[in-house]
Amino acid sequence: MSAVSDPRIIVALDFADAKAALELAHKLDPAQCRVKVGKELFTVAGPALVEQLAGRGFGVFLDLKFHDIPNTVASACRAAARLGVWMLNVHACGGRAMLRAAREAIPAAPDAPRLIAVTLLTSMNESDLRELGIAGTPDEVVLRLAALTSACGLDGVVCSAREAPAVRAQCGDAFALVTPGIRAADAAADDQQRTATPSEAIAAGATYLVIGRPITKAPDPLATLERINAEVSAASRTR
Ligand code: C5P
Repeated sequence: MSAVSDPRIIVALDFADAKAALELAHKLDPAQCRVKVGKELFTVAGPALVEQLAGRGFGVFLDLKFHDIPNTVASACRAAARLGVWMLNVHACGGRAMLRAAREAIPAAPDAPRLIAVTLLTSMNESDLRELGIAGTPDEVVLRLAALTSACGLDGVVCSAREAPAVRAQCGDAFALVTPGIRAADAAADDQQRTATPSEAIAAGATYLVIGRPITKAPDPLATLERINAEVSAASRTR
């Protein structure tokens, strides 16, 4: 299959070591997907793995969800940018000063890493919010934090396909919505509670789809990726 311009699938490399991550990456095509390196893999394999993946041509989403005082987050963002990542993220709950410091550390530019924020962790429910003294329902909190993220000039947020239409309506077409919890209609949900198919996520306004196990555990990961890319292209044309 030919290269996809601005691939919209981000394959979550949720592996316990660099060898397993690189084996899977070897089966994929950097012209058809990006890859996500999260806390476990980065803690084990570190910057060397990120540089290896980038060196193989993959756009790397470094999913470390920085959340600290503004100066520390800004320094961490600059360090991530030096690794050549394509995207990185921070917690919107770090507040306005932290979000602005992150943006100043990574000024928006076509060749700069995309800087996005996590709004509310999807593992948190209304009673968690009450316990923390945070007002509103989870949906309201997501919209409030997405508005803050946008006001601070960041490039987008991580959100579920369920939340995407409201965030898209509020934050506009240029705001990137990065959506996990994607499953084919007939696939196992694994431990995901509310899933969307690739077409549903695109119809809901998602920009990028984070997909882990449906690709990493597939007998032929590249063929699965190509199938999903075809579905995404068809859904994008009708949106
Ligand atoms: O294997 P699966 O497709 O469920 O992987 C989804 C990826 O997206 C994992 O890396 C998971 O940590 C991440 N993620 C998620 N839900 C969120 C945020 C991130 O599933 N709300």
